[in-house]
Amino acid sequence: MIRRKTITKHSTTYPIDSIRNEFPILGTTVHGRPLVYLDNAATTQKPEAVLKVQETYYREQNANIHRGVHHLSEVATFEYEKARGKVRNFINAGDTKEVLFTAGTTAGINLVASSFGRTFLQAGDEVLISAMEHHSNIVPWQLICEERGAVLRVIPMDDNGELLMDEFERMLSPRTKFVSVVQISNSLGTVNPVRRIITAAHAVGAKVLVDGAQAVAHTKVDVRAMECDFYAFSGHKLFGPTGIGILYGRQELLDAMKPYQGGGDMIRSVTFERTTFNDLPYKFEAGTPNIVGGIGLGAAIDFVNTVGLDAIGAYEQELLQYGTALLSRIPGLRIIGTAAQKAGVISFVLEHAHPHDIGTILDREGIAIRTGHHCTQPVMQRFGIPATARASISLYNRTADFDALAAGLQKVQEIFG
Ligand code: ALA
Repeated sequence: MIRRKTITKHSTTYPIDSIRNEFPILGTTVHGRPLVYLDNAATTQKPEAVLKVQETYYREQNANIHRGVHHLSEVATFEYEKARGKVRNFINAGDTKEVLFTAGTTAGINLVASSFGRTFLQAGDEVLISAMEHHSNIVPWQLICEERGAVLRVIPMDDNGELLMDEFERMLSPRTKFVSVVQISNSLGTVNPVRRIITAAHAVGAKVLVDGAQAVAHTKVDVRAMECDFYAFSGHKLFGPTGIGILYGRQELLDAMKPYQGGGDMIRSVTFERTTFNDLPYKFEAGTPNIVGGIGLGAAIDFVNTVGLDAIGAYEQELLQYGTALLSRIPGLRIIGTAAQKAGVISFVLEHAHPHDIGTILDREGIAIRTGHHCTQPVMQRFGIPATARASISLYNRTADFDALAAGLQKVQEIFG
């Protein structure tokens, strides 16, 4: 259990020690050094509660769902649908019909691009994405735009990694049918003004998808207050298992959209002549799903709710400021992504050292960061660099993790001069 009163050296009463105790992997060593895990934008570690429900599921509850009349099938169905209800509350969706289980953010965006595109996009229509999108919010739109004869346009950004909102508003027209943007950039940390983007897009009749992969573990998401049409995220970046994710979609749009994949569970009746489709959300959930993943995601959401996203957000902002100030003092280090509104990502380059070398040397110190283009090659092109090193934080990181990173970077500089 997380004790809420632990006082740390941070200026809040954030229960960092209790939180860390929930994550067994944080007590392990790598190359003989205590693990310093700063690769949370890639995936987060898993708390005991998530590990436990998965084991319980396979030991005591395993069966296929929505199919059997036997006891175990009923239990498994109940647990899976209970998790869907937790997700509904977590993002404040109006109805569980609007909460689709997917394999992850990528699967959710592909579903929308393919299904919305095949239902609504016509030749000459325009789809807008931003210059800081992950490849998973670029390529599905390229594919469907090519198929439908639609035009893909890119909202530019400035040298800080902030979207040029005036430019965006000038790009909007009655031809704009869809806008798909990331809420928090995985490679820059920029927090985008999604509410303003959605209002402007809706004013010309366009629908909006928000990629929330980097947002849900760091800030409260309320899809109804945001007024997005679609919202996609992954379980594994929210302390849940891999291979599970969520696509929220407004019911009226999901009802109108063609199914994405065909198979079991998404049908009402099948003959060789004609198939009718199941109600939402099942119309978009063909095949046996990741049942244990859904249940694990439900446990992850319980965990996050126990800590509280307001407390998490405030704590992570303190850490971000601490880490940014510390790294900024390192000679030859340049932070890529300096937007006024940022979440817990610090991407950087270091004179004389390639990011991959930085990552390898830090690994020998037990420090895990990500290096490379972070599946955002156009961002690297925009900044004229091949790659960055990226430290990304989560609710269990401490200032000591940044102290270790800074010491590790000093070693890198000693090696590379
Ligand atoms: N999209 C994930 C990242 O930024 C994998 O690392």
